[in-house]
Amino acid sequence: MREKEILGFVGEKRAFIGNEALQILAAREDWKEIIEECIKENEFFIKPESVEKKIVRTKIGLVEKEEHEQPAGHQPEEKSGGETADSDLHYRIMSEYDVTNQSFSQGTVQDFINLFQDKYLTLRKMVQLHHSLSPRPISRLKAMPKKEQFDLIGMVARKWQTKNGHTAIELEDMEKSCIAVISKNERSLEPAREKLMLDDVIGVRVEKISDEMVIVKELFWADMPQRKMKRSKHDVRVASISDMHVGSRLFLETPFHKFIEWINGEIGDEKEKQEIKKIKYLMVTGDNVDGIGIYPNQFNELSIKNIFEQYAKFSDLILQIPKDIQIFIIPGQHDAVRWADPQPAIPERVAPKLYEAENVHLMGSPSWVEIEGFKTLLYHGSGLHTLFSNVSGLSYLEPQYAIVELLKKRDLMPAYGIGHTYVPEKKDYMLVREEPDLVFIGDLHHSGYTCYRGTMIIDNSTWQGRTDYQVRLGHIPTPGIVPVINLKTGNIIEKQFIESEPEKE
Ligand SMILES: [Fe+2]
Repeated sequence: MREKEILGFVGEKRAFIGNEALQILAAREDWKEIIEECIKENEFFIKPESVEKKIVRTKIGLVEKEEHEQPAGHQPEEKSGGETADSDLHYRIMSEYDVTNQSFSQGTVQDFINLFQDKYLTLRKMVQLHHSLSPRPISRLKAMPKKEQFDLIGMVARKWQTKNGHTAIELEDMEKSCIAVISKNERSLEPAREKLMLDDVIGVRVEKISDEMVIVKELFWADMPQRKMKRSKHDVRVASISDMHVGSRLFLETPFHKFIEWINGEIGDEKEKQEIKKIKYLMVTGDNVDGIGIYPNQFNELSIKNIFEQYAKFSDLILQIPKDIQIFIIPGQHDAVRWADPQPAIPERVAPKLYEAENVHLMGSPSWVEIEGFKTLLYHGSGLHTLFSNVSGLSYLEPQYAIVELLKKRDLMPAYGIGHTYVPEKKDYMLVREEPDLVFIGDLHHSGYTCYRGTMIIDNSTWQGRTDYQVRLGHIPTPGIVPVINLKTGNIIEKQFIESEPEKE
């Protein structure tokens, strides 16, 4: 019924819409606003990607306006008609995707072989399935007639620029490799050419040039299938925080205490307090403490110079959060676990009080938990810096779009050995093996939200002030922001705990 109304409205505006975008809009009350926004931006063929981006952005815009008008606190973005959240919580930690207690790597050649085989075979299956490809083994290339078109799936072993400015890659499957050339004149392949990195597993439709060489006509990532954003039947909220850096001189303790008062319903008006009661889950995405000896001269930057005391304080703060909220905590590069990904959970010996609390769950990075039927991926984000320095068009100011790139690749490990370090476990824990409904990321100290093919991406803020390192790099953090996701409507509300704008250069 609503589909008809949407098609009529789009027709009136002399615009066009495909079925995927139509289906996404049909599930939304604010479909008209979203279409109008697309048209305002001169987008007359309304694409599903643009609709998904606007879903989140529009709502944040509205909330900021409401907050501005009524500084007492955030407003509920829907009138729920008195319905309250279910008292029964539904969550399942998906420990099969967590390296905690499952790290058996000895760094042997065989470990590396296992890791790359697992990555290749898993992603190959996804590429083939999502694009209905019929790949031939690369070893069959010799037997194919010249000019014949066919599909290949392989891992990028090398990438270089040819003398004529084309991009060449060495594509490898389990037995053999060949050279695949992406012409500089093939405009449709330009974005993919820029984003290709070593170790990516891709599908290609090619034309044979010689027994060792093919020309790429189309390129396919493992990617996510088109899906609608999931909705919960229950009026439940998920909040998330990250990068507290407890123990750092720059830990923003006063705003964090304000957050604790807020989540306990001690501040805000009555309406807001009712909303806060619906928060049943809190995601905490790493760099929980500042650690010791993480970078040169860090010692002088610490207000707590003992790792156990840092965790004692962190635990004390976390345990002030209401007990009916399930808290899922992963480590980051500043935590007391190995620096390389995948990282296991923060161990009991440094945070015994958190292990005693029934509502606190310590997991690895990355790790997964299913809450209210929403498959949720938590990752600190350590590997993202490699992505930023190797792929053009990504910005630290909009880190959410970097996560979209990782979801397209279905891989949180962009290229082995050129930036962040990884431990070659027998299974590749960095692969995005399922289609997540929610993804929470930390590390970048900058909030950002988007939606990609039905997956809501939440980049978390921080509770650390701007560091000298960030000043040198020109990074401007957005501290003291807590996003609250309404699982029933898919909307995000931001609550800000720092009044003034972060310092700008
Ligand atoms: Fe951090």
